Amino acid sequence: MRLELKSVVKQYGQQRALDNLNIAILDTSCLALIGPSGGGKSTTLRLLAGLEAPTSGSIRINENEIGSDAAKRNAHLKNVGVVFQSYNLFPHLNALTNIALPLEKVHRHSKADSITKAESLLQQFQLFEHRFKMPSQLSGGQNQRVAIARAIAPDPDIVFLDEPTSALDPEMTAEVLDAIESLVEAKKRLVIATHQMGFAKQAADTVAIIAGGKLVEVGDASQVIDQPGTERAREFLNASLKF
Ligand SMILES: Nc1ncnc2c1ncn2[C@@H]1O[C@H](COP(=O)(O)OP(=O)(O)OP(=O)(O)O)[C@@H](O)[C@H]1O
Ligand SMILES: [Mg+2]
Repeated sequence: MRLELKSVVKQYGQQRALDNLNIAILDTSCLALIGPSGGGKSTTLRLLAGLEAPTSGSIRINENEIGSDAAKRNAHLKNVGVVFQSYNLFPHLNALTNIALPLEKVHRHSKADSITKAESLLQQFQLFEHRFKMPSQLSGGQNQRVAIARAIAPDPDIVFLDEPTSALDPEMTAEVLDAIESLVEAKKRLVIATHQMGFAKQAADTVAIIAGGKLVEVGDASQVIDQPGTERAREFLNASLKF
């Protein structure tokens, strides 16, 4: 997919989250957004997903301008999947219903098809035996895998993931990263905000470093991570690889 953000500003009251952000990527299947805390990764992800509008500037994904126009943004939002850091699932619905109900009610699949699709995704993510558990009865890693299954169930054009592993311990992190890698292998188009440099390098083809609401560097994932071309990028990568 092609992504283009031009002079994007996102202002929350006095706070400028994105400050003339410019990113142009000609072709990526899996883009990782990395950078220091508060740098603007989540904001960028929300704007790209169409969850929010920019204060100014333009956002283009392939041929579609999705920035300013609410109708276009909503149409775009219907064709994407979103996974956040935590609290993704409906707490009052079991794992199966969390996946099946949106398929039926939002995407207008038949009830039988929705359940069949949900069951097959639960199998794929090794969750079938847990299908009748409520989110509170699932581990963090299981919850996130259900959330990923739900996000991909309607076969969206793009899946946006915002630090899907940051609330998890290392073992559960590995489970969820495996699930995301399986999406990369299945050629899903992904945009992931992550603090996991090793994962970004392995799974993403392209990496963008965002700091202070601006683009620091963008390019081939291993190139940017192993041989950053700017002092600011080196500073961030050295700090994040230290621990
Ligand atoms: N809804 C909001 N209201 C006010 N300020 C916000 C809001 N969302 C983000 N910000 C501010 O915008 C800046 C960028 O935030 P953002 O969440 O995009 O950073 P981030 O790179 O995702 O950080 P982290 O790595 O900690 O998740 C921060 O200074 C943040 O405080
Ligand atoms: Mg964030």
